[in-house]
Amino acid sequence: MTGTKTAAVVEGRAIVQDYYVPGSMFAAGREVRALRGIDFSVEKGKTLAIVGESGSGKSTLARIIALIDAPTSGTLLIDGEPVDISSKRPSPVLRSKVQMVFQNPYGSLNPRQKVGNVLMEPLVINTDFPATERRDRAEAMLKKVGLQPEHFNRYPHMFSGGQRQRIAIARALMLNPQLLVLDEPVSALDLSVQAQVLNLLSDLQDEFGLTYVFVSHDLSVVRYIADDVMVISKGVAVEQGTREALFADPQHAYTQSLFAATPVTDVEAIRTRVARRKAARLATPV
Ligand SMILES: Nc1ncnc2c1ncn2[C@@H]1O[C@H](COP(=O)(O)OP(=O)(O)OP(=O)(O)O)[C@@H](O)[C@H]1O
Ligand SMILES: [Mg+2]
Repeated sequence: MTGTKTAAVVEGRAIVQDYYVPGSMFAAGREVRALRGIDFSVEKGKTLAIVGESGSGKSTLARIIALIDAPTSGTLLIDGEPVDISSKRPSPVLRSKVQMVFQNPYGSLNPRQKVGNVLMEPLVINTDFPATERRDRAEAMLKKVGLQPEHFNRYPHMFSGGQRQRIAIARALMLNPQLLVLDEPVSALDLSVQAQVLNLLSDLQDEFGLTYVFVSHDLSVVRYIADDVMVISKGVAVEQGTREALFADPQHAYTQSLFAATPVTDVEAIRTRVARRKAARLATPV
């Protein structure tokens, strides 16, 4: 770190998160340190993947980066500016810069809200666009994520898991964010649908110059999507580096064991499916 303002869209310095776990009749309440001083930075248009075993602190870090939770200590910088949400909610400008996509799109979509309203809601809350403009933008975004204009008036339960994740991605993009934090966004989907959604995310990143923080426990997904990888274990970033360096020569014993458990065939299968779909899509006249 040079001390000068970096080109990073998001940067974390010494991020610590403690959770208070209430006691019971037999045990006193106690603090659990879920993150133990995490440093990272992600440049515009890049994807940082966060990998690690269950309970290692991935979602905890994702929620801090997405401005949902404030860290116990440490500094989060968005666009080079320190951000503090410990005493007040993020401003609409800041909120529009950072959006989150969760593993389970059904949980993050209101079942009683039609898809059109799901997409227009962030514009209602954060902008003063007139109704026609909101509708135009929502319809355009539906198309961008591979859905149809007639889906506008349907409810989330009328869609497949993959389509629902497309809706959640579309909603996250409505305010033109710079940064998307994605917590296991394809983990609940079938393999072939995973490939389609990863492909979509990759296209959207190119088109809008988006920066991604992508949480996954699946190394084949990480290998496809990541520029840089952070391996986290028990709240500590045990290894960080480019995807190439990490996959070619994992340094840390924990990383080696994590990698040893992942069959390479998964990676090849995903790559093949993604390539095949991309070719099919390019061959289809619009
Ligand atoms: N709200 C909370 N209150 C208390 N402890 C929590 C809370 N959220 C998470 N933890 C604890 O913090 C640690 C990190 O949890 P976290 O959810 O970040 O892990 P994760 O890496 O996302 O795991 P998974 O792969 O299972 O999603 C765990 O020990 C967990 O039990
Ligand atoms: Mg998690």
